[in-house]
Amino acid sequence: MIGDLKWGVTISAVQTEGAYKKDGKGISIWDTFAKNKSKIKDRSDASIATDFYHRYKEDIDLAVHIGLKIFRFSISWSRILPKGTGAINQKGIDFYNNVINYCLSVGVEPWITTYHWDLPQELQDKGGWRNREILFCYENYIKILRDNYADRVTHWILINEAIVCIGAGYFLGIHAPGKRGIKNFSAGIHHILLAQAKGYRVLKKEKGLQVGTAISCTKIDPYTKSLKDQKAAKKIDALMNRLCIEPHLGMGYPEKDLPLTKRIEKFIEDGDMEEMKTNFDFWGIQTYAREVVKSAWYVPYLGAMLVSPKKRKVPVSIMGWETYPEGAYYFLERFSKYNPEKPLWLSECGMALGEGEDDQKRIEYYKRVIEGAKNVLEKRINLKGILVWTLVDNFEWAEGYIPKFGIISLDEKNLDRTMKKTAIWLKKKLSS
Ligand code: BGC
Repeated sequence: MIGDLKWGVTISAVQTEGAYKKDGKGISIWDTFAKNKSKIKDRSDASIATDFYHRYKEDIDLAVHIGLKIFRFSISWSRILPKGTGAINQKGIDFYNNVINYCLSVGVEPWITTYHWDLPQELQDKGGWRNREILFCYENYIKILRDNYADRVTHWILINEAIVCIGAGYFLGIHAPGKRGIKNFSAGIHHILLAQAKGYRVLKKEKGLQVGTAISCTKIDPYTKSLKDQKAAKKIDALMNRLCIEPHLGMGYPEKDLPLTKRIEKFIEDGDMEEMKTNFDFWGIQTYAREVVKSAWYVPYLGAMLVSPKKRKVPVSIMGWETYPEGAYYFLERFSKYNPEKPLWLSECGMALGEGEDDQKRIEYYKRVIEGAKNVLEKRINLKGILVWTLVDNFEWAEGYIPKFGIISLDEKNLDRTMKKTAIWLKKKLSS
């Protein structure tokens, strides 16, 4: 049964490409952000990363060797449009053409993510996702991608995890562009979701495309059975798991359970919520961790806070996250209730280990994901496949190179790749 699922791998531009100003690429907000060393745990940056820009063939070959059938990568907006709008950088277009053509030549399906958090700096200088003009910039960027790649790429993911992008980048300030505050968040959320809706329509002008979105999902449980904690958990659940899908389903923002969404109202213009409705061809579920929430009246806007996994004495990964592969089953089932027909993908799942930790832990993690997927299939939920996060250890955003999510390790000095136990195990599993 599990054999009917398609397996693939996911990477993103900032985390892997390097070559951050080569061949005409413009500067992105992550290039700028990582220059401020205090923002990145190991004081590293992504200027070289895994050097995918030069080693894409080797990486795609490795994916094929393992038996993975899908290669999902993201496009760096500033490699295509160095200033975000205006002149196109042909060398940027060529690079992704090479990646796509190479995938096809070795029999792996290329999937495109159009945006994985790396806004061109020039657009950020004009306000980034806070500024409504971004809608037209994104639409224009998507047209360029469609006109260049839609003849060969059928599966597209528009925005990768809008909630993390705007939550970490515009509310908490822990990711690029490092902005904080409820105003930035409210404007950013509305604009990124609306941009995604527009992007969907642009891509669907080309026949035969499958266009979806990738949604970050975190299992939320209340700390105690008290009504207060339950209400707090419901609020955080609405924020983390509903805010970025329900407006697309025509359900509006989840205002009843998450009153702070009232603040979004002032950014909504006539017709926006109608335009927001988007019948994506598939949903990508991405899940890693579980959080436990308790009521905390003193926390601004939310009145809720997380109870750390350490305090709860549960196993955590090097990310500090509770290891919770069961979230995959939980969310696939939950999303299927919105619409049982909708094709679902587990478009990211994985576990980070620290230097020297036994890779067997990751194998156990994936085994539990597979158990969940079996249950999902038994329930006739429309799961199509699983994409592994990620191929090669890479730049883990503000955590630098400390957490290692790859099924292949990277020698940080010479950038050599070596299959880890997980990759060898997966290869066996996929060939049996
Ligand atoms: C992101 C990846 C990230 C992974 C692990 C996902 O939310 O899409 O870019 O590396 O989580 O943190």
